[in-house]
Amino acid sequence: MTLDKKRILLVIGGGIAAYKSLDLIRRLKERGARVRTILTAAGAEFITPLSAASLSGEKCLTDLFSLTDEADIGHIRLSREADLVVVAPATADLMAKMAQGFANDLASTVLIATDKRVLVAPAMNPFMWNHPATRRNLAQLVADGVATVGPNEGEMAERGEAGRGRMAEPLEIVAAIEKLLAAIPATDALKGRKMLVTSGPTREPIDPVRYISNRSSGKQGHSVARAAAAAGAEVLLVSGPVEIPDPSGVKTVHVETAAEMLSAAEAALPVDVAVCAAAVADWRVDAVANEKLKKQEGRMPSLSLVENPDVLATLSHSKKRPRLVIGFAAETEHLIEHARAKLKRKGCDWIVANDVSPETGVFGGAHNQVHLVTANGVESWPVLSKEAVAEGLVRRIAAALGGRA
Ligand code: CTP
Repeated sequence: MTLDKKRILLVIGGGIAAYKSLDLIRRLKERGARVRTILTAAGAEFITPLSAASLSGEKCLTDLFSLTDEADIGHIRLSREADLVVVAPATADLMAKMAQGFANDLASTVLIATDKRVLVAPAMNPFMWNHPATRRNLAQLVADGVATVGPNEGEMAERGEAGRGRMAEPLEIVAAIEKLLAAIPATDALKGRKMLVTSGPTREPIDPVRYISNRSSGKQGHSVARAAAAAGAEVLLVSGPVEIPDPSGVKTVHVETAAEMLSAAEAALPVDVAVCAAAVADWRVDAVANEKLKKQEGRMPSLSLVENPDVLATLSHSKKRPRLVIGFAAETEHLIEHARAKLKRKGCDWIVANDVSPETGVFGGAHNQVHLVTANGVESWPVLSKEAVAEGLVRRIAAALGGRA
């Protein structure tokens, strides 16, 4: 059975597609999954808790403030005890709540309390689906690592309405669940392992108000840290200045410059694995001005630059070298060739190479297409969310260290 013993927490929102979720429960159970259901108040207008409970074989939970439910299983435990949280149908309202982090009923509270991957199956009227507010919320959810399936095009329940907005069919949702679960590393894949991750840009001061930096968002490095922690590793994340939050379950040290990043990374040794995903500025200003540089009529200031220490190369050549040292290569041309050269030059074990040409939208974006370059060859991965790239990498790391992937 493809979903043997997998624990799915299914949140059923309020839409006509809720009836399909009853079939989804049946299909998941057929494949060996254990399904717990939460029905929102709006969802309960379309189907009954009794039908969800009968199909899943477990009580259907509906109310955050039901004392008996909370005594039975608190909402935090509920959100953590699943392997995957599925929201189907995900209404415009539920997606808006998720994107904003609302926690005013059991469904939204569980969704904000979970440390597991979330899959949403949107279902709404095509006008609602195309509304800028829904577009914004969807973009936010994808950026937060939420996976989606559907919606499909077709006739709506409302007479005369057609377009994109129909919830994906139960079997399509099952396929998306199987794919996601197959990619997620086991929760103990890196148990007992220590991992160091660098992430984000560095900021090299010119004077007290100006600096040299780059467009790195930190999303990929932070995702690796989160996925490693979810796989049981003890993770130290050394992050340059980013606008995204510290990942949960990860100890995060904030730094500004390459020099600070290097000392924080060295202080973390020994570790089993180091993943250098930071976009470290190659150069810094030789003599940082103590006062703000003033504009001078017709005369341009010249900046004298010196090379920054290379964190990846230093870790690779350290006496306390981690067993596995992994670098990233951000390139705009001759991707594989440059990555191979970088692997040798830096002395690391693997390079995750990605094309960061502006047209790819990788810098700052939610997706990535990477090539894993090792001494044995090159493996090209499909376009994936940064979360999925991180999970794939964690599985490979676990396999390389001889753990359960
Ligand atoms: N890196 C690092 N310290 C630096 C520069 C880079 O740790 N001072 C790491 C990055 O974290 C990444 C890898 O080296 O894992 C490749 O970084 P990249 O900037 O692509 O390579 P560079 O060595 O800077 O080469 P180039 O700029 O010529 O592409």
